[in-house]
Amino acid sequence: MAKITASVYTSHVPAIGAALDLGKSAEPYWQPVFKGYEFSKQWMKENTPDVIFLVYNDHATAFSLEMIPTFAIGCAAEFEPADEGWGPRPVPKVIGHPELAAHIAQSVIQDDFDLTIVNKMDVDHGLTVPLSLMCGQPEAWPCPVIPFAVNVVQYPVPSGRRCYNLGKAIRKAVECFDQDLKVQIWGTGGMSHQLQGPRAGLINKAFDNAFLDRLIADPAGLSTLPHIDYVREAGSEGIELVMWLIARGAMSEDKAPTLRHRFYHVPASNTAVGHLILENN
Ligand code: DHB
Ligand code: FE
Repeated sequence: MAKITASVYTSHVPAIGAALDLGKSAEPYWQPVFKGYEFSKQWMKENTPDVIFLVYNDHATAFSLEMIPTFAIGCAAEFEPADEGWGPRPVPKVIGHPELAAHIAQSVIQDDFDLTIVNKMDVDHGLTVPLSLMCGQPEAWPCPVIPFAVNVVQYPVPSGRRCYNLGKAIRKAVECFDQDLKVQIWGTGGMSHQLQGPRAGLINKAFDNAFLDRLIADPAGLSTLPHIDYVREAGSEGIELVMWLIARGAMSEDKAPTLRHRFYHVPASNTAVGHLILENN
């Protein structure tokens, strides 16, 4: 049977992708950001899964105000990097896993979570920047990826509790897939940041570090945090953090996970960068 081996959490700042693509990662501004992912890239090489279930948000790229799925699962065979206004990022196309994606859709929808099935979709920085941070600049991504897009752009957005419970339903679905696959689940976006209005540039290190502490040790408690607290404390785009609860909810409840890596850095563009790796035991 398939199993979830580990979860990865990381911010997805578009300027990180640009820094890599334009060969600027050794510059003094970026060097400390990429240093935080050196361990992770080595860990990925040593712990390459068969499939990554990648929870991210689309930034009005594949979707728009015309159509706003709360949860969308990518069931296609492949996904092209999106053109977000400067041409598509020069990164490999994303190979999907239609069989596992369709199985997860079947199981999770029967568990009362309404997913939108997506059979054609380009993927933006929300998905490609985490892949770049964890895998560097390979010719091809190391394994198939199932894109799972969450609406955190246009209100109403799903609650942390719903995201956490959805993670549990995804775990159940993976564990009844009849192939011996090692699956990682990634939660991306965040940490504190606000891109517009009088509070643009907001960063809250105390909130971010408390969020990381609680995500590790008290995810059920953390899942009750209301939206307004994310927005007040972590800025309007800090709400992206609810996606981390999907990945955390998919981790085993029998035994606490092992913390393999923790990293936090300010600034990267307008965003605080946070990153965790948790392994199931
Ligand atoms: C930035 C961060 C984001 O999450 C995003 O989607 C776009 C821009 C930033 O910090 O610049
Ligand atoms: Fe974002």
